[in-house]
Amino acid sequence: MTSNAGTETVFPLTDLFIRQVTRADLPALEWDGEYWKFREVFADLFNRSLGGNVLLWIVVSPGGDVIGQAFVTLRSGDRDAADGKNRAYVFSFRVKEKWRNRGVGSKLMKFIECDLRQRGFRYVTLNVAKDNPGALRLYRSMGYEIIDSCPGLWSYRDPDGIIHHVTEPSWRMLKSLSGKES
Ligand SMILES: CC(C)(COP(=O)(O)OP(=O)(O)OC[C@H]1O[C@@H](n2cnc3c(N)ncnc32)[C@H](O)[C@@H]1OP(=O)(O)O)[C@@H](O)C(=O)NCCC(=O)NCCS
Repeated sequence: MTSNAGTETVFPLTDLFIRQVTRADLPALEWDGEYWKFREVFADLFNRSLGGNVLLWIVVSPGGDVIGQAFVTLRSGDRDAADGKNRAYVFSFRVKEKWRNRGVGSKLMKFIECDLRQRGFRYVTLNVAKDNPGALRLYRSMGYEIIDSCPGLWSYRDPDGIIHHVTEPSWRMLKSLSGKES
């Protein structure tokens, strides 16, 4: 680990650890309050992960901080997204702001693609909001292609019991895992 001008700690990507979420990690997924609103969503996803249809990946710094995450649905009602055999769907991909643009996100996506290959999956799908050109550029550089347009309607209940309806027009992207690794 090295120090950068004495203001922040930096370390090589090889020092990062990627592992699945345990129950003890659930509070850390709220990112110091920023994602408090998704507490029930995370708890629900964690319970589904115990059944094996969802994989919850986190990137952990050498100091033990959760600095990034990406979740994967192996099987869902939307078979074009995830059919349990050939297609898996990546969502909730994010890296904490101060760790962005250093390759953490790409490392996590490559890890997930490698894991899915080993599980026998042939395609990765994901949705990216149409107003998120940075993420779209990253996915394109990793070999993902737009295959559809989605209205992006979904809802969640926050810990106060308030239902939030989200409209996030998105592109559906797809990558074949059979080509060369990127
Ligand atoms: C999208 C997101 C997860 C990417 O994570 P990240 O860790 O910044 O990703 P990377 O560092 O691997 O790549 C980002 C850029 O940094 C560049 N980069 C990678 N390693 C780098 C390095 N060592 N030095 C400088 N730049 C680097 C990449 O080439 C990429 O360039 P681009 O913007 O031209 O595509 C992150 O920006 C994020 O959390 N955004 C908010 C949430 C979000 O939008 N999620 C996507 C939902 S679909």
